[in-house]
Amino acid sequence: MTALIDLRSDTVSKPSDAMRAAMSTAEVGDDVFGDDPTVIELEARAASLLGKESALYVASGTMANLVAVLTHTKPGDEILLGDESHIFQYELGGAARLAGTITRTLPNLPDGTLDRDAVLAAARQENLHSPGSALLCLENTHNRCGGAAIPKRVMDSLAEAAHSRRMAVHLDGARIFNAATALGIPAASLAENCDSVSFCLSKGLGCPVGSLLCGSKEFIEAARRNRKMLGGGMRQAGILAAAGLYAFDHNIERIANDHENASALADGLRELGPFRPNTPETNIVVADVVNGRLGDWLAAFEKAGVLAVAFGPQRMRMVTHIDISRSDIDEALRRIQTAVGVVAV
Ligand SMILES: Cc1ncc(COP(=O)(O)O)c(C=O)c1O
Repeated sequence: MTALIDLRSDTVSKPSDAMRAAMSTAEVGDDVFGDDPTVIELEARAASLLGKESALYVASGTMANLVAVLTHTKPGDEILLGDESHIFQYELGGAARLAGTITRTLPNLPDGTLDRDAVLAAARQENLHSPGSALLCLENTHNRCGGAAIPKRVMDSLAEAAHSRRMAVHLDGARIFNAATALGIPAASLAENCDSVSFCLSKGLGCPVGSLLCGSKEFIEAARRNRKMLGGGMRQAGILAAAGLYAFDHNIERIANDHENASALADGLRELGPFRPNTPETNIVVADVVNGRLGDWLAAFEKAGVLAVAFGPQRMRMVTHIDISRSDIDEALRRIQTAVGVVAV
């Protein structure tokens, strides 16, 4: 059998030879002293791609979100966020533990959005008794909502609601280039009314490490201090930043292929009885298992040579990425069909 087809996440992709070559020749310096020309260039290009004044290179999407929360809030403040958001579900409560904020969840609608009236109703002003709501966190694309791409008009309306209550808005745009590709608009336009936006290099853009946090000059200056406090000041980080510059030039336009591959995967899965996949808008396929047990299916997939992850009691997730071609999808579907012949339902 050929190699495993790894659809667990778009974080599993490996840097290409050309990306590695760009990394190996990167000019570097001590970035904590502000001396690394490649990091400086990466941050400038990221800011411009996202339509913000400034940007900060950080180790991960989780660190970008945490630095954003630390920078927008003070201890005791409340942040509003979706109950399916990555910050709430998968970041170990860092906003509470390290930023000292109350995380107040609002129900995410199936399309990844929040109800505007719910945001307005939840927002509260600080007084003798109550903490103040200081920050609204949005996510686009929305991971747990099947990679949903949230349209600009919805983003703008939620941001306007938050601003009307004197809250700042942070966008977890780990996959914002997937959203921008699906919606056919620039990433900067999607993030236009958000005060800060983070995105990951190590997902759809195919880099080994890193994320960027973008915002106003003043915000990023404060964020830089918070990154240092978390131990995230990196030295000759240009070696890693060079991968990001390579990705900006070569790996954004190709994201559309990942979306086509995800659609083909979902279409194929739908024809196999036991699965109810979403209709993917981007590169994330989530499929409910309607016959048999999820654990048995994941084991059978793995035995047949396809890796997926559990995404709920009876739900699995598969993500397309730069290392997955259309023929890998066809082969994955053949292997899954073999698994369907094996698992008793
Ligand atoms: C929406 C979203 N935000 C943030 C992150 C965190 O990124 P990292 O794994 O780089 O910390 C992820 C990772 O999967 C994500 O899907």
